This record gives sequence, structure tokens and C-alpha cells, in this order.
Amino acid sequence: MHFTVNGQPVEAAFDARTSLLDLLRDHLGLSGTKKGCNQGACGACTVLVDGERINACLALAVQYQGRSITTVEGLATAGDLHPLQRAFIEHDGFQCGYCTPGQLCSAVAMAAEVARGLPSVVTADLSAETIALSSDEVRERMSGNLCRCGAYNGIVDAIAETFAGEGRRPLEHAA
Ligand code: FES
Ligand code: FES
Repeated sequence: MHFTVNGQPVEAAFDARTSLLDLLRDHLGLSGTKKGCNQGACGACTVLVDGERINACLALAVQYQGRSITTVEGLATAGDLHPLQRAFIEHDGFQCGYCTPGQLCSAVAMAAEVARGLPSVVTADLSAETIALSSDEVRERMSGNLCRCGAYNGIVDAIAETFAGEGRRPLEHAA
């Protein structure tokens, strides 16, 4: 089966019951994506598929053949850390680091969702020109990514700083 992983074409043969997470980690050697609960509860396995965040532990790899998959290994470009990765370092957004790859991938897609004007349950004003990426918005939108170390303050600060100003008009009121 054919995939594009971190911009590179990949051919892989595997049991049809293999999860996308196991394909990445065990077949392709991309161990940056972590296996936490393996049942969709922790977000450690979050990767991007065509820019959308998904829990790779809940996805069968065969569902995603032909799609473009980005893991944490694909966030840095030409040896430069993604701005969000640098912000995590500057804001102490991790302790053990086990949740961090999922936090990073999830936050990148989350910012894109905000940029598309998708409101969350805490978006107060759906008629506003932009969705301000407040601490409450970040916490709600990142609530699927757990951190056992409790590094949430640094995580929220890093995300808010990196994506400040990227909000857009909520979807219902977009032109
Ligand atoms: Fe996938 Fe926990 S390992 S959500
Ligand atoms: Fe340890 Fe988040 S930094 S689980």
C-alpha cells in the first residue's frame, strides 16, 4: 500500500488489521508518535492526515492509503524546529516529553481549525471577526491531549504565543 509520510512516498505491506499507529512505529520506524492508552483517550498518538488531526491508535492504516500523513518527525523543516517546538522549549511545555509529539501535532491542526473559523464550545461570540486564541480556547480545543506530568501551563503558553493572531471569523458567520 502507498502512503505519503512526512512528504516522502512510502510503500508498505502489512496485516490489514494494523493500526496507523503501529504502521508508523513498528513498520516505518517513526517512533516519535507515542502509544499511550491505545484506545483513543490520551492523544499521545495524534498525527496529521491531510492536515487534520486524528488519533492514530484508533485508525486502521488501510483506511489512509494514498493520504498524506505528517508525524512529529515531519514538523521540523530543513533542520529547523517548527516555531511551536521552539516555543515548547522556551515555555517548559514538557517534562517527560511522552505526550509532546501528540501535543505538537494536535496544536498545529487546532490552529488551522481556528484559522478556518471553526468555533469551539467556549467560543463566546460567533459574530466576531476573529476567534481570539485565548487560554480557554486553547485548553478546550486541546482537551483531547492529556499530559500526565501536568505541564499544561507551559503547553498553553507555547501554543498561545505561537498561534496568537491566527484566529478568523467563526464558521457560521464566515463570508
Ligand atoms: Fe491513541 Fe491514547 S494512544 S489516544
Ligand atoms: Fe510528561 Fe506530558 S510531559 S506526559
